[in-house]
Amino acid sequence: MASCCGLMLWTRLPGRTSNIILAKLEGNNPAGSVKDRPALSMIQEAERKGVIKPGDTLIEATSGNTGIALAMAAAIKGYKLILIMPANMSEERRAAMAAYGAELLSVPPGEMETARDLAKEMEAEGKGIVLDQFGNLDNPLAHFTSTGPELWEQTNGQITHLVSSMGTTGTIMGTSRYLKSKNPKIQLCGLQPSQGAKIPGIRRWPEEYLPKIFDRSRVDQVIDISQREAEETTRALARMEGIFCGVSSGGAVSAALRLSSEVENAVIAVIICDRGDRYLSTGIFSPQAIENDPKPCPANEFPSAVARLPAYPAPRYVIFVADPDPETGESWCGDTNRALPIARELVREAGGTLLEVAVGSRPVWKDEHHPFRHDPELHLTCVPTMIHWQDGAPGERVGPELEAAKTSSLVETTLRSFISRTAGK
Ligand SMILES: Cc1ncc(COP(=O)(O)O)c(C=O)c1O
Repeated sequence: MASCCGLMLWTRLPGRTSNIILAKLEGNNPAGSVKDRPALSMIQEAERKGVIKPGDTLIEATSGNTGIALAMAAAIKGYKLILIMPANMSEERRAAMAAYGAELLSVPPGEMETARDLAKEMEAEGKGIVLDQFGNLDNPLAHFTSTGPELWEQTNGQITHLVSSMGTTGTIMGTSRYLKSKNPKIQLCGLQPSQGAKIPGIRRWPEEYLPKIFDRSRVDQVIDISQREAEETTRALARMEGIFCGVSSGGAVSAALRLSSEVENAVIAVIICDRGDRYLSTGIFSPQAIENDPKPCPANEFPSAVARLPAYPAPRYVIFVADPDPETGESWCGDTNRALPIARELVREAGGTLLEVAVGSRPVWKDEHHPFRHDPELHLTCVPTMIHWQDGAPGERVGPELEAAKTSSLVETTLRSFISRTAGK
């Protein structure tokens, strides 16, 4: 697996940076995901301990990549496999599992806990053995013995940070143990979905449901990523870097880009868990989905949002606005309310892209320490400010002029002249 899951360089990091971001392409494993490693490891180790032997039946509750990986490993090693999953699982996943010869059982949509209970019941009735990826130490072991050493070798020991999305947490647990044994300074950054976000393969675990294999001390930082941010980065990755992957991987790249804006001289590796074709039926790559990117985003998403800009048509602009009210869409700043609809319309007319970044509530923006005021490239002093974004860096801008333009027609004149000055550059 080492040779196929190589590292790929993210070539278009925004602005001036001393960092590099490397993507580890785990979708190149034989059954298409990072889960091939623990699937094989859990079977091999159970065999070694004498718990199972070829011909036995294995049972697992899984909603995704683990099921496909186990189905492949069971086929190679000569086991029968029963996979229990919620009925709303995508058709391509079911078809892949069945192709490897697994038997599929369904529980009602969304009921992963029911699936886990049923697996345990069937084991108690003697119908097979449950490997239990959430509690099985041979899951992280696979990453301690393979993913971790590969990351170390493929970066010539230069890796400073690893970003991994967290599901069972097997990947981050195993790689953390290995990498910190080589260099305790290496930082492990875990990604979890923000409150309410649904990202396939990963979970925001409530304390009482944390996987048994999880050890908090092995993770230095946890970053929350929204579903929207993860999906937008996933689409942009395919268009900009030719990396066609699932949403949890897009989320991990978003987290790496945020991290990169805070550190220097870093070699940041990101685990790309699987390939995008597994998600086609969900519609996340549909033309309609792409058409609506980039969506307005909050200030903390700026580093990853701006990195995605080359995926969209030029001329490209970023407009910094005051936070909108979630109900009315109006912001606390009258100048923003006046300028934003006009900016949207004029950029649309020019066939370009407008990224809207909300700087914060009034007290947040008025704070002298706001990071955008002190950013070496932004030096943002007023909202709204619109910046022409060119070759990954800020170019010409209008800010105080927009603030001073107190009627819609003055705003329109200001923006028209700004766009006609910059659009052809
Ligand atoms: C798509 C996807 N992303 C991320 C992960 C997380 O990996 P881990 O379970 O090792 O934390 C998984 C696990 O199944 C996955 O399927």
